[in-house]
Amino acid sequence: MTDKIWTELEKHQPQSLVDLFASDKERVANMTLEHSGLRFDLSKTHLDSIALGHFETLAIDMELDRLKTALFSGAAINVTEGRAAEHTAERGYGAADAVMHARALQDRMRGLVEAIDSGFMGDIRHILHIGIGGSALGPKLLVDSLGRDGARYDVRVVSNVDGAALTEAVKDMDPHKTIVAVASKTFTTTETLLNATSAMEWMIEGGVQDPYAQFVALTAYPDKAIEWGIDESRILPFNEAVGGRYSLWCSIGFPVALAHGWAVFADMLEGAGAMDRHFRDAPVLENAPTMAAFADLYYAQTKSCQTRAVFAYDERLRLLPDYLQQLEMESNGKSVTADGAPLGRHSAPVTWGGVGTDAQHAVFQLLHQGTHLIPVEFIASKSPGHDFDTAHHETLLVNCFAQGAALMAGQHSGDLARNYVGNRPSTTILLDDVTPSTIGALIAFYEHRTFVNAVLLGINPFDQFGVELGKQIAKSISENGPIGFDPSTAALIEAALGDH
Ligand code: F6P
Repeated sequence: MTDKIWTELEKHQPQSLVDLFASDKERVANMTLEHSGLRFDLSKTHLDSIALGHFETLAIDMELDRLKTALFSGAAINVTEGRAAEHTAERGYGAADAVMHARALQDRMRGLVEAIDSGFMGDIRHILHIGIGGSALGPKLLVDSLGRDGARYDVRVVSNVDGAALTEAVKDMDPHKTIVAVASKTFTTTETLLNATSAMEWMIEGGVQDPYAQFVALTAYPDKAIEWGIDESRILPFNEAVGGRYSLWCSIGFPVALAHGWAVFADMLEGAGAMDRHFRDAPVLENAPTMAAFADLYYAQTKSCQTRAVFAYDERLRLLPDYLQQLEMESNGKSVTADGAPLGRHSAPVTWGGVGTDAQHAVFQLLHQGTHLIPVEFIASKSPGHDFDTAHHETLLVNCFAQGAALMAGQHSGDLARNYVGNRPSTTILLDDVTPSTIGALIAFYEHRTFVNAVLLGINPFDQFGVELGKQIAKSISENGPIGFDPSTAALIEAALGDH
Protein backbone atom coordinates (compact mmCIF):
# COMPACT_ATOMS: atom_id res chain seq x y z
CA MET A 1 0.00 0.00 0.00
CA THR A 2 2.74 2.45 1.02
CA ASP A 3 4.61 1.93 -2.26
CA LYS A 4 1.41 2.54 -4.16
CA ILE A 5 0.89 5.88 -2.39
CA TRP A 6 4.42 6.98 -3.17
CA THR A 7 3.94 5.95 -6.81
CA GLU A 8 0.75 8.02 -6.96
CA LEU A 9 2.56 10.96 -5.41
CA GLU A 10 5.40 10.62 -7.92
CA LYS A 11 2.97 10.44 -10.84
CA HIS A 12 0.96 13.44 -9.66
CA GLN A 13 1.77 16.66 -11.50
CA PRO A 14 0.49 19.64 -9.54
CA GLN A 15 -0.05 22.98 -11.22
CA SER A 16 2.70 25.58 -11.02
CA LEU A 17 2.74 27.57 -7.80
CA VAL A 18 1.41 30.65 -9.56
CA ASP A 19 -1.45 28.61 -11.04
CA LEU A 20 -2.23 27.03 -7.68
CA PHE A 21 -2.87 30.53 -6.33
CA ALA A 22 -4.85 31.52 -9.42
CA SER A 23 -7.15 28.53 -9.11
CA ASP A 24 -7.75 28.84 -5.37
CA LYS A 25 -8.42 32.31 -4.05
CA GLU A 26 -8.38 30.92 -0.54
CA ARG A 27 -5.01 29.24 -0.90
CA VAL A 28 -3.21 31.49 1.59
CA ALA A 29 -5.88 30.91 4.23
CA ASN A 30 -6.10 27.21 3.40
CA MET A 31 -2.38 26.64 3.60
CA THR A 32 -1.53 28.90 6.53
CA LEU A 33 -1.66 27.67 10.11
CA GLU A 34 -1.30 29.81 13.19
CA HIS A 35 -0.37 28.54 16.58
CA SER A 36 1.49 29.64 19.72
CA GLY A 37 2.51 33.01 18.25
CA LEU A 38 3.80 31.41 15.05
CA ARG A 39 2.36 31.62 11.56
CA PHE A 40 3.26 28.80 9.18
CA ASP A 41 2.71 29.70 5.55
CA LEU A 42 2.91 26.58 3.39
CA SER A 43 1.03 28.10 0.47
CA LYS A 44 4.12 28.49 -1.72
CA THR A 45 4.62 24.73 -1.87
CA HIS A 46 3.18 22.36 -4.47
CA LEU A 47 0.97 20.62 -1.94
CA ASP A 48 -2.52 20.59 -3.46
CA SER A 49 -5.63 18.69 -2.46
CA ILE A 50 -4.54 15.57 -4.38
CA ALA A 51 -1.06 15.47 -2.83
CA LEU A 52 -2.52 16.17 0.60
CA GLY A 53 -5.02 13.36 0.13
CA HIS A 54 -2.18 10.95 -0.63
CA PHE A 55 -0.22 12.13 2.39
CA GLU A 56 -3.25 11.70 4.62
CA THR A 57 -3.54 8.12 3.40
CA LEU A 58 0.17 7.61 3.93
CA ALA A 59 -0.15 8.90 7.50
CA ILE A 60 -2.88 6.33 8.13
CA ASP A 61 -0.88 3.59 6.43
CA MET A 62 2.24 4.38 8.46
CA GLU A 63 0.18 4.61 11.67
CA LEU A 64 1.09 8.18 12.55
CA ASP A 65 -1.65 8.37 15.20
CA ARG A 66 -0.53 5.18 16.91
CA LEU A 67 3.10 6.30 16.94
CA LYS A 68 2.16 9.75 18.18
CA THR A 69 0.29 8.14 21.06
CA ALA A 70 3.30 5.93 21.69
CA LEU A 71 5.56 8.99 21.75
CA PHE A 72 3.40 10.84 24.25
CA SER A 73 2.71 7.83 26.43
CA GLY A 74 6.31 6.85 27.04
CA ALA A 75 6.21 3.60 25.04
CA ALA A 76 9.59 2.25 23.92
CA ILE A 77 9.41 4.00 20.59
CA ASN A 78 13.19 4.05 20.15
CA VAL A 79 13.06 0.39 19.18
CA THR A 80 16.71 -0.13 18.33
CA GLU A 81 17.74 1.01 21.80
CA GLY A 82 14.67 -0.36 23.55
CA ARG A 83 13.61 2.87 25.25
CA ALA A 84 11.10 5.70 25.15
CA ALA A 85 11.75 9.18 23.80
CA GLU A 86 10.53 11.35 26.63
CA HIS A 87 11.47 14.92 25.70
CA THR A 88 7.81 16.01 25.66
CA ALA A 89 7.49 14.94 29.30
CA GLU A 90 9.96 17.75 30.12
CA ARG A 91 7.27 20.13 28.88
CA GLY A 92 4.49 18.41 30.82
CA TYR A 93 3.19 16.08 28.07
CA GLY A 94 4.04 12.45 28.50
CA ALA A 95 3.50 9.47 30.77
CA ALA A 96 2.51 10.65 34.25
CA ASP A 97 5.60 9.17 35.93
CA ALA A 98 7.93 10.69 33.32
CA VAL A 99 6.32 14.12 33.76
CA MET A 100 6.69 13.86 37.54
CA HIS A 101 10.29 12.72 37.22
CA ALA A 102 11.06 15.58 34.82
CA ARG A 103 9.48 18.13 37.21
CA ALA A 104 11.49 16.81 40.14
CA LEU A 105 14.74 17.07 38.18
CA GLN A 106 13.84 20.52 36.90
CA ASP A 107 13.12 21.60 40.48
CA ARG A 108 16.57 20.40 41.40
CA MET A 109 18.01 22.48 38.55
CA ARG A 110 15.98 25.49 39.63
CA GLY A 111 17.28 25.01 43.17
CA LEU A 112 20.87 25.12 41.96
CA VAL A 113 20.20 28.17 39.76
CA GLU A 114 18.72 30.00 42.73
CA ALA A 115 21.53 28.88 45.03
CA ILE A 116 24.12 30.18 42.56
CA ASP A 117 22.18 33.44 42.33
CA SER A 118 22.41 33.78 46.08
CA GLY A 119 26.14 33.12 46.19
CA PHE A 120 26.34 29.38 46.98
CA MET A 121 29.26 29.04 44.57
CA GLY A 122 30.84 32.42 45.30
CA ASP A 123 30.88 35.56 43.22
CA ILE A 124 30.07 34.03 39.84
CA ARG A 125 30.14 36.04 36.61
CA HIS A 126 30.89 33.52 33.87
CA ILE A 127 29.56 30.11 32.84
CA LEU A 128 31.82 27.97 30.70
CA HIS A 129 29.46 25.40 29.19
CA ILE A 130 31.35 22.42 27.77
CA GLY A 131 29.47 19.93 25.62
CA ILE A 132 29.09 18.88 22.02
CA GLY A 133 26.27 18.02 19.60
CA GLY A 134 22.95 18.05 21.43
CA SER A 135 24.76 18.99 24.62
CA ALA A 136 25.87 22.29 23.08
CA LEU A 137 23.75 23.32 20.10
CA GLY A 138 20.52 23.99 22.01
CA PRO A 139 22.10 25.99 24.86
CA LYS A 140 24.20 27.92 22.33
CA LEU A 141 21.15 28.83 20.25
CA LEU A 142 19.06 29.87 23.24
CA VAL A 143 21.73 31.80 25.09
CA ASP A 144 22.42 33.67 21.87
CA SER A 145 18.83 34.28 20.82
CA LEU A 146 17.42 35.24 24.21
CA GLY A 147 20.44 37.03 25.59
CA ARG A 148 20.39 40.06 23.37
CA ASP A 149 19.02 42.35 26.06
CA GLY A 150 21.75 41.35 28.44
CA ALA A 151 22.12 38.08 30.28
CA ARG A 152 22.59 37.69 34.02
CA TYR A 153 25.82 35.75 33.50
CA ASP A 154 28.32 35.73 30.69
CA VAL A 155 27.90 32.29 29.06
CA ARG A 156 30.43 30.81 26.68
CA VAL A 157 29.87 27.47 25.01
CA VAL A 158 32.80 25.29 23.98
CA SER A 159 32.25 22.22 21.88
CA ASN A 160 35.15 21.61 19.52
CA VAL A 161 38.07 19.56 20.81
CA ASP A 162 40.41 21.98 19.03
CA GLY A 163 42.17 23.71 21.94
CA ALA A 164 41.83 26.96 20.03
CA ALA A 165 38.12 26.91 20.85
CA LEU A 166 38.78 26.66 24.58
CA THR A 167 41.54 29.26 24.38
CA GLU A 168 39.14 31.69 22.77
CA ALA A 169 36.35 30.89 25.21
CA VAL A 170 38.35 31.47 28.38
CA LYS A 171 39.95 34.65 27.07
CA ASP A 172 39.14 37.50 29.51
CA MET A 173 37.41 35.10 31.90
CA ASP A 174 38.25 35.16 35.57
CA PRO A 175 38.58 31.51 36.66
CA HIS A 176 37.70 32.51 40.24
CA LYS A 177 34.35 33.80 39.02
CA THR A 178 33.57 30.97 36.62
CA ILE A 179 31.35 27.91 36.80
CA VAL A 180 32.29 25.13 34.42
CA ALA A 181 29.20 23.18 33.35
CA VAL A 182 30.21 19.83 31.85
CA ALA A 183 27.27 18.78 29.69
CA SER A 184 27.26 15.24 28.44
CA LYS A 185 24.37 12.84 28.41
CA THR A 186 26.69 9.83 28.49
CA PHE A 187 29.58 11.53 30.29
CA THR A 188 31.92 9.54 28.05
CA THR A 189 32.32 11.87 25.06
CA THR A 190 36.04 12.31 24.33
CA GLU A 191 35.89 15.92 23.21
CA THR A 192 33.85 17.04 26.22
CA LEU A 193 35.95 15.23 28.80
CA LEU A 194 39.20 16.51 27.28
CA ASN A 195 37.88 20.07 27.25
CA ALA A 196 36.70 19.63 30.84
CA THR A 197 40.14 18.40 31.92
CA SER A 198 41.80 21.36 30.22
CA ALA A 199 39.31 23.75 31.82
CA MET A 200 40.28 22.24 35.16
CA GLU A 201 43.96 22.92 34.35
CA TRP A 202 43.09 26.47 33.38
CA MET A 203 41.46 26.96 36.76
CA ILE A 204 44.40 25.47 38.64
CA GLU A 205 46.83 27.65 36.68
CA GLY A 206 44.62 30.61 37.45
CA GLY A 207 45.10 29.96 41.16
CA VAL A 208 41.69 28.48 42.03
CA GLN A 209 42.18 26.54 45.26
CA ASP A 210 39.35 24.06 44.88
CA PRO A 211 38.48 23.92 41.16
CA TYR A 212 36.21 20.87 41.53
CA ALA A 213 33.91 23.04 43.67
CA GLN A 214 33.28 25.19 40.60
CA PHE A 215 32.31 22.30 38.34
CA VAL A 216 28.73 21.32 37.63
CA ALA A 217 27.72 18.21 35.66
CA LEU A 218 24.66 17.93 33.42
CA THR A 219 24.19 14.29 32.58
CA ALA A 220 21.96 11.25 32.43
CA TYR A 221 24.73 9.23 34.09
CA PRO A 222 25.48 10.91 37.44
CA ASP A 223 27.72 8.02 38.56
CA LYS A 224 30.13 8.76 35.77
CA ALA A 225 30.26 12.44 36.76
CA ILE A 226 30.93 11.45 40.38
CA GLU A 227 33.72 9.15 39.19
CA TRP A 228 35.15 12.09 37.26
CA GLY A 229 35.29 14.04 40.51
CA ILE A 230 32.19 16.21 40.58
CA ASP A 231 30.32 16.35 43.85
CA GLU A 232 26.83 14.88 43.83
CA SER A 233 25.37 18.21 45.06
CA ARG A 234 26.43 19.87 41.83
CA ILE A 235 25.21 17.17 39.46
CA LEU A 236 22.01 17.84 37.58
CA PRO A 237 20.78 14.52 36.24
CA PHE A 238 18.26 14.01 33.48
CA ASN A 239 16.16 11.16 32.19
CA GLU A 240 18.11 8.70 30.04
CA ALA A 241 15.08 8.48 27.74
CA VAL A 242 15.63 12.08 26.60
CA GLY A 243 17.79 11.96 23.48
CA GLY A 244 20.86 14.18 23.26
CA ARG A 245 19.43 16.34 20.48
CA TYR A 246 16.18 16.76 22.44
CA SER A 247 17.85 17.56 25.74
CA LEU A 248 17.82 21.35 25.97
CA TRP A 249 14.56 21.13 27.96
CA CYS A 250 16.21 19.37 30.85
CA SER A 251 19.46 20.03 32.67
CA ILE A 252 21.39 20.53 29.43
CA GLY A 253 19.47 23.83 29.37
CA PHE A 254 21.09 24.83 32.68
CA PRO A 255 23.14 27.74 31.22
CA VAL A 256 19.95 29.09 29.64
CA ALA A 257 18.13 29.03 32.99
CA LEU A 258 21.14 30.57 34.68
CA ALA A 259 21.79 33.26 32.10
CA HIS A 260 18.19 34.32 31.67
CA GLY A 261 16.54 33.28 34.90
CA TRP A 262 14.09 30.53 35.74
CA ALA A 263 11.02 32.43 34.52
CA VAL A 264 12.48 32.55 31.00
CA PHE A 265 13.29 28.85 31.05
CA ALA A 266 9.77 28.08 32.30
CA ASP A 267 8.25 30.21 29.50
CA MET A 268 10.28 28.28 26.98
CA LEU A 269 8.97 24.98 28.35
CA GLU A 270 5.46 26.38 28.28
CA GLY A 271 5.80 27.45 24.62
CA ALA A 272 7.10 24.02 23.69
CA GLY A 273 4.26 22.42 25.66
CA ALA A 274 1.69 24.43 23.71
CA MET A 275 3.19 23.06 20.51
CA ASP A 276 3.11 19.53 21.97
CA ARG A 277 -0.61 19.92 22.59
CA HIS A 278 -1.17 21.25 19.11
CA PHE A 279 0.79 18.40 17.54
CA ARG A 280 -0.89 15.78 19.68
CA ASP A 281 -4.46 17.00 19.16
CA ALA A 282 -4.85 18.91 15.89
CA PRO A 283 -6.18 16.97 12.90
CA VAL A 284 -3.68 16.20 10.16
CA LEU A 285 -4.51 19.05 7.79
CA GLU A 286 -4.51 21.61 10.60
CA ASN A 287 -1.40 20.26 12.22
CA ALA A 288 1.63 22.49 11.57
CA PRO A 289 4.43 19.95 12.13
CA THR A 290 2.56 17.31 10.12
CA MET A 291 1.79 19.59 7.20
CA ALA A 292 5.38 20.88 7.13
CA ALA A 293 6.60 17.27 7.07
CA PHE A 294 4.31 16.56 4.10
CA ALA A 295 6.00 19.40 2.24
CA ASP A 296 9.45 18.09 3.21
CA LEU A 297 8.60 14.60 1.99
CA TYR A 298 6.99 15.85 -1.18
CA TYR A 299 10.24 17.45 -2.31
CA ALA A 300 12.76 14.99 -0.85
CA GLN A 301 10.92 11.90 -2.00
CA THR A 302 9.02 12.73 -5.15
CA LYS A 303 11.34 15.41 -6.56
CA SER A 304 14.56 13.89 -5.21
CA CYS A 305 15.59 17.19 -3.63
CA GLN A 306 18.83 16.43 -1.85
CA THR A 307 18.90 19.52 0.30
CA ARG A 308 16.59 21.84 2.20
CA ALA A 309 17.68 25.38 2.99
CA VAL A 310 16.70 27.33 6.09
CA PHE A 311 17.31 31.05 6.34
CA ALA A 312 16.73 32.97 9.55
CA TYR A 313 15.75 36.52 8.71
CA ASP A 314 16.46 37.50 12.26
CA GLU A 315 19.88 37.80 13.82
CA ARG A 316 18.50 36.33 17.06
CA LEU A 317 17.90 33.05 15.25
CA ARG A 318 21.20 32.95 13.41
CA LEU A 319 22.20 29.67 15.07
CA LEU A 320 18.93 27.93 14.21
CA PRO A 321 20.24 26.32 10.99
CA ASP A 322 23.12 24.72 12.95
CA TYR A 323 20.67 23.43 15.52
CA LEU A 324 18.37 22.02 12.85
CA GLN A 325 21.21 20.29 11.08
CA GLN A 326 21.73 17.98 14.02
CA LEU A 327 18.04 17.57 14.74
CA GLU A 328 17.10 16.64 11.19
CA MET A 329 20.23 14.94 9.87
CA GLU A 330 21.12 12.92 12.97
CA SER A 331 17.49 11.87 13.37
CA ASN A 332 16.58 10.97 9.81
CA GLY A 333 19.85 10.52 7.92
CA LYS A 334 19.39 6.75 7.82
CA SER A 335 19.08 4.10 5.16
CA VAL A 336 17.34 1.52 7.27
CA THR A 337 13.82 1.36 8.68
CA ALA A 338 12.97 0.92 12.34
CA ASP A 339 12.41 -2.79 11.53
CA GLY A 340 15.93 -3.11 10.21
CA ALA A 341 14.96 -3.36 6.53
CA PRO A 342 16.59 -1.26 3.79
CA LEU A 343 14.78 2.07 3.55
CA GLY A 344 14.29 1.80 -0.18
CA ARG A 345 13.73 5.56 -0.45
CA HIS A 346 15.79 8.71 0.04
CA SER A 347 16.70 9.48 3.62
CA ALA A 348 16.28 13.00 4.99
CA PRO A 349 17.85 15.66 2.80
CA VAL A 350 20.83 17.74 3.85
CA THR A 351 19.72 20.66 6.00
CA TRP A 352 21.73 23.80 5.42
CA GLY A 353 21.19 27.51 5.55
CA GLY A 354 22.24 30.81 6.98
CA VAL A 355 21.05 34.27 7.81
CA GLY A 356 19.15 36.73 5.69
CA THR A 357 19.96 39.15 4.24
CA ASP A 358 23.61 38.00 4.22
CA ALA A 359 22.80 34.80 2.35
CA GLN A 360 21.14 36.74 -0.46
CA HIS A 361 24.54 38.12 -1.39
CA ALA A 362 26.24 34.76 -1.26
CA VAL A 363 24.16 31.69 -2.06
CA PHE A 364 20.81 32.84 -3.40
CA GLN A 365 22.10 32.99 -6.97
CA LEU A 366 22.01 29.18 -7.01
CA LEU A 367 18.59 29.06 -5.39
CA HIS A 368 17.14 31.28 -8.11
CA GLN A 369 19.00 30.05 -11.17
CA GLY A 370 20.91 26.88 -10.34
CA THR A 371 19.84 23.54 -11.73
CA HIS A 372 19.00 22.07 -8.33
CA LEU A 373 15.52 22.38 -6.93
CA ILE A 374 15.94 23.41 -3.29
CA PRO A 375 12.95 23.99 -1.02
CA VAL A 376 13.67 27.04 1.09
CA GLU A 377 12.36 27.95 4.51
CA PHE A 378 12.29 31.55 5.71
CA ILE A 379 11.95 32.33 9.40
CA ALA A 380 11.26 35.88 10.51
CA SER A 381 9.76 37.83 13.36
CA LYS A 382 7.18 40.61 13.16
CA SER A 383 8.97 42.47 15.94
CA PRO A 384 12.59 43.55 15.78
CA GLY A 385 15.21 42.61 18.33
CA HIS A 386 16.77 46.08 18.52
CA ASP A 387 16.00 49.75 18.99
CA PHE A 388 17.58 51.12 15.84
CA ASP A 389 15.57 52.82 13.13
CA THR A 390 12.54 50.76 12.08
CA ALA A 391 13.98 50.92 8.56
CA HIS A 392 16.27 48.03 9.55
CA HIS A 393 13.45 45.66 10.37
CA GLU A 394 11.33 46.77 7.45
CA THR A 395 14.22 46.22 5.06
CA LEU A 396 14.87 42.80 6.57
CA LEU A 397 11.26 41.66 6.23
CA VAL A 398 10.82 43.21 2.79
CA ASN A 399 13.83 41.24 1.60
CA CYS A 400 12.60 38.03 3.18
CA PHE A 401 9.21 38.25 1.51
CA ALA A 402 10.77 39.39 -1.79
CA GLN A 403 12.89 36.25 -1.96
CA GLY A 404 9.93 33.92 -1.53
CA ALA A 405 7.96 35.86 -4.13
CA ALA A 406 10.88 35.85 -6.58
CA LEU A 407 11.51 32.12 -6.17
CA MET A 408 7.87 31.45 -6.92
CA ALA A 409 7.11 33.92 -9.71
CA GLY A 410 10.45 33.97 -11.51
CA GLN A 411 10.87 36.33 -14.40
CA HIS A 412 11.02 35.28 -17.99
CA SER A 413 13.57 36.68 -20.35
CA GLY A 414 14.79 35.72 -23.81
CA ASP A 415 18.28 36.22 -22.46
CA LEU A 416 18.84 32.95 -20.61
CA ALA A 417 21.45 34.49 -18.32
CA ARG A 418 18.72 36.78 -17.01
CA ASN A 419 15.90 34.26 -17.00
CA TYR A 420 14.41 33.09 -13.71
CA VAL A 421 12.35 29.95 -14.19
CA GLY A 422 10.41 30.45 -10.96
CA ASN A 423 8.02 27.84 -9.60
CA ARG A 424 10.54 27.26 -6.80
CA PRO A 425 8.94 26.40 -3.45
CA SER A 426 9.35 28.05 -0.10
CA THR A 427 7.74 28.01 3.31
CA THR A 428 7.68 30.95 5.71
CA ILE A 429 7.44 30.86 9.47
CA LEU A 430 6.57 34.23 10.92
CA LEU A 431 6.91 34.67 14.69
CA ASP A 432 5.04 37.42 16.55
CA ASP A 433 8.36 38.02 18.26
CA VAL A 434 11.40 36.04 19.35
CA THR A 435 10.46 35.32 22.96
CA PRO A 436 11.20 32.37 25.25
CA SER A 437 7.72 31.08 24.52
CA THR A 438 7.80 31.38 20.71
CA ILE A 439 11.28 29.94 20.46
CA GLY A 440 10.19 27.02 22.66
CA ALA A 441 7.23 26.45 20.36
CA LEU A 442 9.41 26.79 17.27
CA ILE A 443 11.92 24.19 18.43
CA ALA A 444 9.15 21.80 19.49
CA PHE A 445 7.56 22.32 16.07
CA TYR A 446 10.81 21.23 14.40
CA GLU A 447 11.13 18.22 16.71
CA HIS A 448 7.65 17.03 15.80
CA ARG A 449 8.10 17.76 12.12
CA THR A 450 11.25 15.61 12.20
CA PHE A 451 9.27 12.89 13.96
CA VAL A 452 6.51 12.91 11.32
CA ASN A 453 9.12 12.73 8.55
CA ALA A 454 10.58 9.69 10.30
CA VAL A 455 7.23 7.98 10.85
CA LEU A 456 6.17 8.38 7.23
CA LEU A 457 9.48 6.93 6.08
CA GLY A 458 9.46 4.16 8.67
CA ILE A 459 12.68 5.42 10.29
CA ASN A 460 13.53 5.37 14.00
CA PRO A 461 14.60 9.01 14.51
CA PHE A 462 15.89 8.47 18.03
CA ASP A 463 19.09 6.48 17.50
CA GLN A 464 22.35 7.56 15.81
CA PHE A 465 24.51 4.52 15.16
CA GLY A 466 26.05 6.28 12.17
CA VAL A 467 28.29 8.36 14.42
CA GLU A 468 29.93 5.36 16.09
CA LEU A 469 32.31 4.04 13.43
CA GLY A 470 34.31 7.25 13.21
CA LYS A 471 34.61 7.33 17.01
CA GLN A 472 35.92 3.74 17.06
CA ILE A 473 38.45 4.44 14.32
CA ALA A 474 39.67 7.61 16.06
CA LYS A 475 40.20 5.53 19.20
CA SER A 476 42.10 2.92 17.25
CA ILE A 477 44.36 5.58 15.66
CA SER A 478 45.00 7.09 19.09
CA GLU A 479 45.95 3.69 20.46
CA ASN A 480 47.73 2.06 17.54
CA GLY A 481 48.77 4.80 15.13
CA PRO A 482 48.82 3.93 11.43
CA ILE A 483 48.86 0.16 11.89
CA GLY A 484 46.08 -1.56 10.02
CA PHE A 485 44.91 1.45 8.03
CA ASP A 486 44.66 2.03 4.31
CA PRO A 487 47.77 3.63 2.72
CA SER A 488 46.23 7.09 2.47
CA THR A 489 45.09 7.21 6.10
CA ALA A 490 48.35 5.65 7.32
CA ALA A 491 50.40 8.23 5.40
CA LEU A 492 48.33 11.10 6.82
CA ILE A 493 48.76 9.77 10.35
CA GLU A 494 52.51 9.45 9.85
CA ALA A 495 52.83 12.86 8.23
CA ALA A 496 50.95 14.70 10.98
CA LEU A 497 51.36 12.59 14.09
CA GLY A 498 54.67 10.85 13.36
CA ASP A 499 55.38 7.76 15.44
CA HIS A 500 52.72 8.97 17.81
O1 F6P B 1 28.14 11.64 18.51
C1 F6P B 1 26.81 11.97 18.49
C2 F6P B 1 26.27 12.27 19.84
O2 F6P B 1 26.04 11.11 20.54
C3 F6P B 1 25.03 13.12 19.77
O3 F6P B 1 23.89 12.40 19.53
C4 F6P B 1 25.06 13.81 21.09
O4 F6P B 1 24.22 14.92 21.12
C5 F6P B 1 26.52 14.15 21.19
O5 F6P B 1 27.18 13.04 20.61
C6 F6P B 1 27.04 14.39 22.57
O6 F6P B 1 26.87 13.28 23.39
P1 F6P B 1 26.94 13.41 24.96
O7 F6P B 1 25.90 14.36 25.39
O8 F6P B 1 26.73 12.03 25.48
O9 F6P B 1 28.31 13.93 25.30
